[in-house]
Amino acid sequence: EKGGFKHFMAKEIAEQPVVMADALRHYTGSSAAPALNLPEGLDFTGIDRVVMVACGTASYATHVAKYWFEQIAGLPAEIDVASEFRYREPVLSEKSMAIFVSQSGETADTLAALRYVKSKVAKVVSVVNVPTSSIARESDLALPILAGTEIGVASTKAFTCQLTVLALMALKAAADRGRLSPADLSARLESLRAMPGLLNAALASSDSIAQIANELARASDILFLGRGPMYPMALEGALKLKEISYIHAEGYASGELKHGPIALIDEKVPVIVMAPMDALFDKTVSNMQEVMARHGKVLLLSDAKGLAEAGEGTWAQLALPAVEPVWAPILYAVPAQLLAYHTAIAKGTDVDQPRNLAKSVTVE
Ligand code: F6R
Repeated sequence: EKGGFKHFMAKEIAEQPVVMADALRHYTGSSAAPALNLPEGLDFTGIDRVVMVACGTASYATHVAKYWFEQIAGLPAEIDVASEFRYREPVLSEKSMAIFVSQSGETADTLAALRYVKSKVAKVVSVVNVPTSSIARESDLALPILAGTEIGVASTKAFTCQLTVLALMALKAAADRGRLSPADLSARLESLRAMPGLLNAALASSDSIAQIANELARASDILFLGRGPMYPMALEGALKLKEISYIHAEGYASGELKHGPIALIDEKVPVIVMAPMDALFDKTVSNMQEVMARHGKVLLLSDAKGLAEAGEGTWAQLALPAVEPVWAPILYAVPAQLLAYHTAIAKGTDVDQPRNLAKSVTVE
């Protein structure tokens, strides 16, 4: 049932181009001209804020989506982890839309947060992989991510499908708010449709990632850096790595490095810099150079142009396809997952059943 792969995690990483294309087909049709086809009830007219709540990897998907709702739709977006959200007395209004993201749809903290907001907001929407789950049933509207059953404890294909559905929701919000002309919407949808092909290309770097991972496996601390929507990807890269390889890892917003974490840098600490060619590339590179000046071992993830511009003096490099910057987080999920996977393999840990973790956390 692992389809020729050694682990469910490897199979699920490899499935991403196909399941993402399935989700896109479901929500944008299969004709050459894509069109948004989201459930009727998903209407952002009159909504003045989205509040997104989730746990773990699903919460990093909402963190990426916060950038999308704000940048594409001009809609204020708030995020929180479920265990904090429901105890902090969040200010909610009848003009807010609450969005709960959960692969299993059974995460106790997320479900409790959903019950807490009900009747306090305009609409409760869930983004789930299991359409029959408690979270789906208790929300006003449930959008399936269509990733198929995810068995590996570390979430991979569910994450990219969560991002896909959240991207489409941000586009719908932009259209509803008059922020996106039909032509611009089509262009955005077409660039999303190109993503499964790019994920495929990223999967082809699995062998080079395995080589790098042999070295990473010797580290006791690893940092991930990114800016903008690559910041939550740095957090996700670090979470994936620590949960299956048991190596201590942290993700930071690149610009925060100088406010403390730079004290950790020495020649033993690998620093993984996620730097697609976006508007913040130069700033990310200058943060990377601060790391190199302190002898940190930098692994630079970028496209060929970015590596040519900034690769000098780095310890290692990984070339990814050039990508429409707004969707770069979807692409960079793949190397983040493969780095964690191969590092865990090099360490000999149980990647599908990491210690102390359960696939679905149904207790608070
Ligand atoms: C990380 C991971 C967890 C889950 C989290 C939420 O790889 O799998 O962090 O993302 O427990 O689970 P769901 O999405 O089922 O609510």
